[in-house]
Amino acid sequence: MKLQGKVALVTGGAQGIGRAIATRLAQEGAAVIIEDLSDNPRAEETLQELQAMGAKTALLVGDVGKVADGQRVIREGVAAMGRIDILVNNAGVERRAGFLDASEADYDLVMHVNLKGPFFITQAFARHVRERGGDGRVINISSVHEELPFPHFASYCASKGGLKMLTRDLAIELAPLGITINNIAPGAIKTPINAELMDDPALLKALRANIPLKRLGTPEDVAGVAAFLASDDAAYITGTTVGIDGGLLWNYHEQ
Ligand code: BGC
Repeated sequence: MKLQGKVALVTGGAQGIGRAIATRLAQEGAAVIIEDLSDNPRAEETLQELQAMGAKTALLVGDVGKVADGQRVIREGVAAMGRIDILVNNAGVERRAGFLDASEADYDLVMHVNLKGPFFITQAFARHVRERGGDGRVINISSVHEELPFPHFASYCASKGGLKMLTRDLAIELAPLGITINNIAPGAIKTPINAELMDDPALLKALRANIPLKRLGTPEDVAGVAAFLASDDAAYITGTTVGIDGGLLWNYHEQ
């Protein structure tokens, strides 16, 4: 157990990649605070699963796209567990639209949840770390689309590209506090964000053909790397991105 005695907060922890990370961090001995948009059945189920494992856990409700909510979640998490050591910025959304038709409301939603939220919740976390004397971990769940164009998802790509640059900048700014910060860049993972894709056999076939390992990833594929980045084994890694994409990002071949 690599995370005994640590406290983690996972945003968007009720489902998909967030849920798998929450579970894996708990397996490694961490107390895990799950944050989600609402107290929904999936959040309750995740909470019960963690409790059944014997983990110390709590559910906090908030919209990380709203700065005040993110700050409150950090405050409430510290009040509930005494401290937070590991912040996983996992909550994320995407909206499909051709660039010429994209709406301001969709742009704002994507940028607020995927970029502004992580910016200010990390700020609140770093202030907490400073107060308790330093040492912490931030793990951002980014995407292959921090690098790779994704037509019809321009706002999503912009948000993830921003997260990549934010990670690099904060690696330097937060190092004096003993905080490391890294991105994980998943490719196509079987999660609710991909529900539409997984219901469309033709799309799925085309996507698989693009993935050298010829399968979609699982949330557990991502969770293992998050646990590693949160552990002492990763103490000297900061400001970088770990891709988990079956080879998707750098796939190129000529027939
Ligand atoms: C997106 C998915 C997409 C995958 C691979 C992820 O970041 O959320 O919609 O299928 O990247 O392109």
